Amino acid sequence: MAYKVGLDGGALKQPIKKSRQQHQYGEHPQNYFTRFFDTFALQLFDSYFLVVTVNMDTYILGIESSCDDTSAAVIRERKILANLIANQQVHTDFGGVVPELASRAHQQNIIPVIQKAIRTANIQKSQISAIAYTNGPGLLGSLLVGTSFSKSFALATGIPLITVNHMHAHILAHFIEDDRQKTPPFPFLCLTVSGGHTQIVKVHSPYQMEVIGNTIDDAAGEAFDKAAKIMGLPYPGGPLIDKNAREGNPDKFRFPHPKVPGLDFSFSGLKTSILYFLRDALKKDPDFIQKNTLDLSASIQHTIVEILMKQLRKAVKETGISHVAMAGGVSANSGLRAAFTSEAEQGNWEVYIPPFEYTTDNAAMIAIAGYFKYIKGDFAAQDTVPFTRYGGG
Ligand code: KG4
Ligand code: ZN
Repeated sequence: MAYKVGLDGGALKQPIKKSRQQHQYGEHPQNYFTRFFDTFALQLFDSYFLVVTVNMDTYILGIESSCDDTSAAVIRERKILANLIANQQVHTDFGGVVPELASRAHQQNIIPVIQKAIRTANIQKSQISAIAYTNGPGLLGSLLVGTSFSKSFALATGIPLITVNHMHAHILAHFIEDDRQKTPPFPFLCLTVSGGHTQIVKVHSPYQMEVIGNTIDDAAGEAFDKAAKIMGLPYPGGPLIDKNAREGNPDKFRFPHPKVPGLDFSFSGLKTSILYFLRDALKKDPDFIQKNTLDLSASIQHTIVEILMKQLRKAVKETGISHVAMAGGVSANSGLRAAFTSEAEQGNWEVYIPPFEYTTDNAAMIAIAGYFKYIKGDFAAQDTVPFTRYGGG
């Protein structure tokens, strides 16, 4: 099977030099090839496009542990061989993720999940070309579990270590080879909506992503979860609001839209208005929420989706880019998916809607992001540390 080494001269030259300083290749057979082609590339191809054909598949082991899901995946080139997730139930009683409990649960889950992923992929550990793991943004204790495991695994096996930005990985999930999804062409816009982030990203390439819109307070997922909590629904509330909304009237209750300049978002005002609205309604009728759960859910979801779509439409207009993708946990939302589909049906946008399992946190997206770094030779050193906030890496 053929694989590309380097996408352009600059991209090829620099990371390989960096990786040579940072990473001591072990005597793994794949590393022999990597080392050989590094040398080959540096000596012969100073600044030109290079394609090398080798009869060896690239297998990436991906590890995700940034929040409350421990996930491991194995991909061969851009195809998934295994993508397993261990959810953590310990947080249910607390109405949100408890960081300390999350890192302890990751400690318990990480080895069995990885072992099972390797078994499911039906490969030997010695076939793995590199290990890619999330190094941020996320909860520090949780990130440290994936980080420590990955560093140890890389050291023990002598394979390269690759760090992956969780938010970039959500976007790059679109490049997993899967008949159920089509891959967007560059440049495209991506609405990246998760529990902690809400961004409009101009994606120039797998290596160059420009955030052109961001939330100034809460994220869209947080808005779903907080609204659900106010209504007395368990955490995470997003999927439950979605489920209820399917049977509710989205126009029954009206909530204000924020006034935010540019392409940014704000969701904290919505949370406050839901809180006050329900406080007043409950004074008149203590059963108001029970009687109106479906319509409340539909109206809240409709408001969040409209806030997102309004800014996205503006971004399409301003950039002239009409290839629009969605990523992150909130892109599992049926209302948001319907709004995208409607834009496509009206002929306004070409939309890219991923299968459900690539929207919420998963390690396949980490593995594919790792794959792109692998072909560029962009490896991490053993002293690399995780970061908690976007832009901190
Ligand atoms: O990307 P993700 O799995 O984890 C983070 O990186 O944060 O996103 C989790 C967020 C949570 O806020 C969850 O409530 C929300 O995604 N979510 C949904 C749906 N599924 C997950 N929100 C609305 N509708 C859904 N169907
Ligand atoms: Zn995520």
